[in-house]
Amino acid sequence: TRADKGGHKHYMAKEIAEQPVVVAEAIRSYLPTGGDQVVLPGDDLDFTKLDRLTMVACGTAFYACLTAKYWFEQLAKMPVEVDIASEFRYREPPISDRTLALFVSQSGETADTLAALRYCEGKADKIVSVVNVAESSIARESDMALPIHAGVEIGVASTKAFTCQLSVLLMLALKAAADRGTLNDEEIADHAAALRGLPTVLNAALDQNDAIRQSAQRLSEARDVLFLGRGLMYPLAMEGALKLKEISYIHAEGYASGELKHGPIALIDKHMPVVVMAPRDAVFDKTVSNMQEVMARKGKVILVSDDDGIAEAEDGVWSTIRMPHVHTSLAPILYSVPAQLLAYHTAVAKGTDVDQPRNLAKSVTVE
Ligand code: G6P
Repeated sequence: TRADKGGHKHYMAKEIAEQPVVVAEAIRSYLPTGGDQVVLPGDDLDFTKLDRLTMVACGTAFYACLTAKYWFEQLAKMPVEVDIASEFRYREPPISDRTLALFVSQSGETADTLAALRYCEGKADKIVSVVNVAESSIARESDMALPIHAGVEIGVASTKAFTCQLSVLLMLALKAAADRGTLNDEEIADHAAALRGLPTVLNAALDQNDAIRQSAQRLSEARDVLFLGRGLMYPLAMEGALKLKEISYIHAEGYASGELKHGPIALIDKHMPVVVMAPRDAVFDKTVSNMQEVMARKGKVILVSDDDGIAEAEDGVWSTIRMPHVHTSLAPILYSVPAQLLAYHTAVAKGTDVDQPRNLAKSVTVE
């Protein structure tokens, strides 16, 4: 009933709207007030003893891992491999005993992810999981399970679990950076302050709902949609495309902006909407030049950026979605909201079954 959905039409809408609250909960539980130190539940992890991180997951959780790779590399200077569980488990990759094997799963029951975890037993130094369901198989079989505190997620298309996974993974990367001394106290304090401010900016992003719905109205007429991003926005471009195809059945692809000219640019014409995820960060100018290449071929750009970015680059775009300003590291968490709402409103405009999209399951427990 609508009551279970907290007055929303769909569980997905409710779960998107809950993000400021559940993300706040996730942040509070790893970053207790009164300090900037990330505290893990149970026994501790010492990142100085580890020289590599191997992350494995499926679906949306895989994109959370791809985002976390940027954080672990940039903040903690750790080499990171990320793999899809179904590929990882059969490739039989060598795992050194100084590896932290990290598995990310909302349900904690995904068959391929669980099999990948079992493959790492006795090989990796430690097996850690990032899960929503604390009683799950993946949590049970890990040396350490890190809950994301998203609460029950019902919509098949994952939303609040994704932003909570990202929040926990960012805090884990900060813990790694602190252990390894790759960030100074001031930088850690900056990140901690930004994390604590995240619920407020997530609310501001949710306030853009009407503008996003208008852009979605236009997307609902498209046959194909391209999502572009660079750096931390690249995995999010893929997640945005995944969300859109899952629930609206519109073919969508996420691409690294810099790869545009190596293929997808051939598809650009006046029928092709291109969603560009571009906060005004260090790679902004590069992304804008890719966006101009799209517009020169009559592609229809939806620019998702902040005030500075929009002021600088809105000339000739089809529409804009305005995000609050946020610490660069946190942008993928914040920009998840417009990615989710674009998919949601497009699906609603098309009249698809948003919470139960055809052919998909919430949890894939068989191969
Ligand atoms: C299914 C769900 C996705 C989810 C993926 C991985 O495909 O529909 O939303 O991202 O499984 O699930 P997990 O529970 O392991 O995160």
